[in-house]
Amino acid sequence: MTLLALAASSRDGSLNAALMEVILAELGDVFPRPDRVDYAIFEETPQYSARLEQHSGVPETMQQLARRVAEARALLLVTPEYNHGIPGSFKNGIDWLSRVSVTLLARKPVLIAGASAAPVGAWRGMRALRPSVELLGGLTVPYMISIGGVTSRAAIEERFTDPAARPRIAAALSTFRHLCTLPAEPG
Ligand SMILES: Cc1cc2nc3c(=O)[nH]c(=O)nc-3n(C[C@H](O)[C@H](O)[C@H](O)COP(=O)(O)O)c2cc1C
Repeated sequence: MTLLALAASSRDGSLNAALMEVILAELGDVFPRPDRVDYAIFEETPQYSARLEQHSGVPETMQQLARRVAEARALLLVTPEYNHGIPGSFKNGIDWLSRVSVTLLARKPVLIAGASAAPVGAWRGMRALRPSVELLGGLTVPYMISIGGVTSRAAIEERFTDPAARPRIAAALSTFRHLCTLPAEPG
C-alpha cells in the first residue's frame, strides 16, 4: 500500500513539514515507503483559469500528480492555516486536480493535520480543506491532528507523547489505519 503525503509548505523549517514527518514515523509499520509530494509543484503551477485550461489543458505537473494520487491507497494532507483558510497555492492545485477527475479521491482514506504557533493549531485551515477533499470522494478521518502552540519539531514530538493530547492523536491514527484496511474497490 502506498501513502501519498503532502505538507502544504516548502518553507525551510516548516512546522507542517515537520508534523508530516512525525505522523509518517507513527504510520511507518503500515506505510514504510510513503510517496512524499514536493510542495514546490503546487507553488510553480499557474493559477487556474478556465481560459488557460481551454487553451492549454491541465498542466503536466498536475496530471502527473493526479496519477500519483490515483496510485495511492490513502493520503496524508498537512496544511498551514492562512487567514482561516488553506494556502492559495494548495487550493489552486486541488482545483486543477479536480479537472483531471472529480472522483480522484473516491474510497481513499484521508488524514488531515496541521500545525501552527498559534494556540488553535491550524484548525480553521484544516476545516476549510475538508469540503474540497470530501467533494472529490475522500474518506476523511473525523478526528484531525491539530497541533497548536508549537514552534519546533521537538515541540511537535513532545505533543505526541503528552497524555493530554495523545488520546485524540491516537484516535485519529487508529481510525485512519482502520479505513486503510477497507477494500479499495467497491464490493
Ligand atoms: C498569509 C498568511 C496567513 C496566515 N494566517 C494565519 C491564520 O489565519 N491563523 C494562524 O494560526 N496562523 C496564520 N499564519 C501563520 C502560519 O500558520 C505560520 O506561518 C505557519 O508556521 C506556516 O506553516 P509552515 O511553518 O508549515 O510554513 C499565516 C501566515 C501567513 C503567511
